[in-house]
Amino acid sequence: MKCFAVIGNPIDHSLSPRIHKLFAEQVGIKLDYRKQKVQSGELSDEITRFFTNGGSGLNVTVPHKQAAYALCDDLSPRAKLAGSVNTLYMNEGQLIGENTDGVGLVKDITDNLEISCQKAKMLIIGAGGASRGIIEPLLAESPRSIDIVNRTFSKAAKLAKIFKKLGNIRALSFDELLSDYDIIINASSSSLQQDLPAVPEKCLASGQLAYDLMYADSATTFMSFAAQAGCKQQADGLGMLVEQAAEAFAIWNGYQPETKTVIACLRQ
Ligand code: ATR
Repeated sequence: MKCFAVIGNPIDHSLSPRIHKLFAEQVGIKLDYRKQKVQSGELSDEITRFFTNGGSGLNVTVPHKQAAYALCDDLSPRAKLAGSVNTLYMNEGQLIGENTDGVGLVKDITDNLEISCQKAKMLIIGAGGASRGIIEPLLAESPRSIDIVNRTFSKAAKLAKIFKKLGNIRALSFDELLSDYDIIINASSSSLQQDLPAVPEKCLASGQLAYDLMYADSATTFMSFAAQAGCKQQADGLGMLVEQAAEAFAIWNGYQPETKTVIACLRQ
């Protein structure tokens, strides 16, 4: 039986084993998928041990995505731009890193929520690793523009510079934000602290979709704020989680699983 795992810290609440088991049942294969708590100092040894023992694929989650990137022998073009990896496998003795987070987000927005990114005016809040992982796949959808805003402006400016050659992206201060964004994505970790980024309500008032990369049992702080500001629809990151897992599953097993029923099952 093929063995997989997700490594991170904390890891107890990870839904990945459940998601991959549901995918496996769907396509009629048997697999073992575990979650493993790994401290930063153990990351390299744990990855080596996992693949030496015959493991087929590893998912990497917070806080190891950037450190795992640095350990890879080769990277997909997408992972290179993201500067982080969430999916690892071996190919001819080489450790290969992929990043499926951004594609997962785009699939959730376009396929599940049925909102087009094409020609959309987008705002991304936050300029950490999560933001960097989603920018290239979002730009590949040909939005009209992406504005990026962050508590620490210099980090937003740095990201805009990295991705400028791929599309219409710029960094703005909170004061400079527009009032007609279509899609507003919270990629900051503010909701983890039940906090809100300093985005004025006007930025969400004519929004079609406010998307929080975090997920929770009920609406996140950002989703509630967006609803109050007049944004038409709000979503948390559960769909993205399932979609990024589906992309990893397809890379490892050669089957593209169906995701909508899995998302519905997890929501119950
Ligand atoms: P990740 O890899 O999950 O993106 P990170 O690199 O620590 O995590 O980045 C977290 C992002 O959320 C950063 O953009 C951070 O802003 P700073 O760059 O100013 O630190 C942002 N962030 C975290 N807490 C926030 C809060 N309460 N309000 C606004 N932004 C917040």
